[in-house]
Amino acid sequence: MVAPDARAAGEVAADLVAAVVQASPHPRIGLATGATMVGVYGALVERCRDGSLSFARTTAYLLDDYVGLDDRHPQAFRNVIRVSLADHVDLPTEALVAPNPNASDLDGEARRYEEVVGSAHLDLQILGIGGNGHIAFNEPGSPLDSATRVVTLSEATRRANARFFDSVDDVPRQAITQGIGTILRAEQILLIALGPHKAAAVRDALEGPVTPEIPASALQTHPDVRVMLDPEAAAMLSQGTPLG
Ligand code: F6R
Repeated sequence: MVAPDARAAGEVAADLVAAVVQASPHPRIGLATGATMVGVYGALVERCRDGSLSFARTTAYLLDDYVGLDDRHPQAFRNVIRVSLADHVDLPTEALVAPNPNASDLDGEARRYEEVVGSAHLDLQILGIGGNGHIAFNEPGSPLDSATRVVTLSEATRRANARFFDSVDDVPRQAITQGIGTILRAEQILLIALGPHKAAAVRDALEGPVTPEIPASALQTHPDVRVMLDPEAAAMLSQGTPLG
């Protein structure tokens, strides 16, 4: 769906998240981080504040996190998600589930987290998309059936995320991320993209061939994907309204 602007896209995305949270006795949702999510999470916080939504029975699972950032670093995704959502809603502290990117055995931690997310059977996974077509930190070339693992970030992603750090040199080189195969196990997926810098990736993901070169193209193989765009992100699509 194409919303009139980014704010409206955030509200409609929040409607969908709220509907899933309200429909299940023990909702399990997967959370992305990044600039795209700010409006969505802001709208969800508002709904908790006005009493129309509760996360008290929800368990939330983080998609990914940088390797090597201090536990208190504001850009560690586990902290970003607390500041943008978890600290402002009634999600129980222990119900925010994340990989440990400071584990001494990172490959073992990736296997553990794969098991945790895989056995959780998420009701909804919320996704953003990178300008290079990545989902979570599955960069171009990632196997479409990949599992949670430690990855090396592309230069494009490090440059894109440098805006959150003092300089590009401070952006970590590695991350732990759910794989594409992990993400595709969710019952429903909500992909959100905002802005002209996402237009080509959105077009390639939704209308191009399914290929590891555009990791988000794997979403074409999932039976229940909703796409929420602003007009700028939808600008290169041949049909006005994508998927559902
Ligand atoms: C973050 C994540 C990434 C972002 C993507 C878009 O958890 O998984 O795939 O969703 O890089 O980031 P923004 O929203 O900052 O443009």
